[in-house]
Amino acid sequence: MLQKLYSQYLFPCLCDWALSSSELEPLRNYCVRETHGRVLEIGFGTGLNLLHYPETVQEIHAVDNNPKMHAKAARRIAQTNIPICQYELEGKSLPMESESFDCVVSTFTLCSIASVQQAMSEIWRVLKPGGRFHFLEHGLSPDPKVASWQEFMNPFQNFIGDGCQLNRPIESIICSQRFIMKPVEHFYLKNMPRIVGCIYQGQALKIKDC
Ligand SMILES: C[S@@+](CC[C@H](N)C(=O)[O-])C[C@H]1O[C@@H](n2cnc3c(N)ncnc32)[C@H](O)[C@@H]1O
Repeated sequence: MLQKLYSQYLFPCLCDWALSSSELEPLRNYCVRETHGRVLEIGFGTGLNLLHYPETVQEIHAVDNNPKMHAKAARRIAQTNIPICQYELEGKSLPMESESFDCVVSTFTLCSIASVQQAMSEIWRVLKPGGRFHFLEHGLSPDPKVASWQEFMNPFQNFIGDGCQLNRPIESIICSQRFIMKPVEHFYLKNMPRIVGCIYQGQALKIKDC
């Protein structure tokens, strides 16, 4: 009950505040800069990527399992000309047709989805051949010292971040599907502790003959 109240009322505000830092703005912009056509954004949250989408995007299908996130996104949705369809759904099971999206976007979401492998296989399924998965995520550090702190702090983060895990191996989660990975950019955020600011950013291509 307490967890549900936290998740529905406090977490959307906390998430919006923490993830709207000025350090993240250029990274969001970079993540979605080459998106186009029909886009699916998974873990849409409060719509913090919306103002960064280029004009080449025709429509965005926004999936999130927390209805209060959708409500908080309304202001940003009103500020864009791109048509947005919102769905209150679990990322692990999408009703969208196979091979129906040009791009799928995920920012700071693979850390939170409970059945992340299933969600990745859905992302693969709904992407058209030649489509791309654009991601900006935090995850497990390659530095053993940072990684051991991540393990230690994970239960706290899990509570505060409404299911967020600090220790997800982002590259191998994405590579569990038959994507061709462009070189992944890996770095630490300057204004965040390394345990939460260990960033993986890139694009994964669904090749045509798979
Ligand atoms: C840390 S927030 C990031 C929000 C947004 N992507 C951003 O960059 O600001 C993670 C989002 O994923 C959503 N989420 C968590 N588990 C999910 C699931 N199983 N299916 C769909 N969305 C989920 C949460 O409700 C939350 O909005």
